[in-house]
Order: sequence, then structure tokens, then C-alpha cells
Amino acid sequence: MDFFELINKRYSVRSYLPDEIESEKLQKILEAARLAPTACNLQAFRVVIAKTEGRREQLNRVYPRNWFSEAPYIIAVCAEKGKGWVRSDQKSFADVDAAIVMDHIILAATALGLGTCWIGAFDPKAAAEVLELDKDLEPIVLTPLGYPKGEQPPKRRKAVEDLVIYK
Ligand SMILES: Cc1cc2nc3c(=O)[nH]c(=O)nc-3n(C[C@H](O)[C@H](O)[C@H](O)COP(=O)(O)O)c2cc1C
Repeated sequence: MDFFELINKRYSVRSYLPDEIESEKLQKILEAARLAPTACNLQAFRVVIAKTEGRREQLNRVYPRNWFSEAPYIIAVCAEKGKGWVRSDQKSFADVDAAIVMDHIILAATALGLGTCWIGAFDPKAAAEVLELDKDLEPIVLTPLGYPKGEQPPKRRKAVEDLVIYK
């Protein structure tokens, strides 16, 4: 699959099979996270990967959708507080770094036939509690990770001319 097929194939999967994920696939996904670029190469992030089995009720507090804990794993990309690059105007790039890491994870998962869904609308306090995060970690984005159930819906996107400004 080339890159353009890959980005067309990725979609927000909101229904998962309970099937276990091969450990080689998990390792490839984590390697993709490791290779993500970060501002100043500070790599001030942690990828937390948690099994959903036995945690479904707790995970419902983090993001109350049944499909959230259907897959065998949840991944949280966390920023190491105060360790990321900060621009001269004080803008922190921690969220940008975390988003790139998550995108590597999500695209790697897609290439391996796995499904994911970006989740930003979770309860960060509940996530920190349920995933037993160290105090210096801020969860930025989450995704389930598992084999998709169902079909990919058509993409709904604005036209290129509505998104691009030529100067
Ligand atoms: C930063 C970010 C946060 C998102 N948060 C959520 C979320 O909390 N819940 C959800 O169901 N989808 C979430 N999404 C998925 C978007 O709704 C989805 O990507 C968009 O509708 C386009 O659909 P597609 O991913 O299937 O192409 C999020 C996506 C991004 C990029």
C-alpha cells in the first residue's frame, strides 16, 4: 500500500472486534511512535498502552462510549510536563509533538490492517486515574487499537480550494 492509499484507508473506527493483536504488529506500531519527529528532537512524550480486558467499566469513565473499550488495547499519547520545546513567545509545542506521535501510531496501525480513532473528548482526570499515570504526564490524545468491525464510510471533506490559500 503506498502512502496515498494509506491516508485514504484510515478512518475513525467506532466498532471493533475483540481479536488479540499480534505482538509483532504492536512492536511495529510502537517503533513508528519512536520515529516521530518532535520539536528540537526533545522526545518529551510517553506512549501508554493498556489492555482493555478487566478495565471496561473504568474506561467508560474516561470516554463513555461502548466502542471505546471494545478493542483489546487503548493507547494514550502523553506529554512529559514542562519538558517539551517552548517557542520564544511561550507557545508550547507539546500538543503538536503528541499529535505527530499519534499520527504515526494511527497510520502504522492502518498499514497493518488495524483500526483506531482519535479521541480528544475524553476526561483527562479519569484517564490519569484509570491509567495510573505519573503526575508528570499529561494525556493529550487517546485511541482504541484493534481490528475494525464494519466498513469504511465515505470521506466527507471540504474541497482543496476551500482549504488552501495561495499567495
Ligand atoms: C484531534 C482529534 C480529536 C478527535 N476527537 C474525537 C473524539 O473525541 N471522539 C470521536 O469519536 N472522534 C474524534 N475525532 C475523530 C474525528 O471526528 C474524525 O477524524 C473526523 O470526523 C474525520 O473522520 P475520519 O477520521 O473517519 O476521516 C478526533 C479527531 C482528531 C483529529
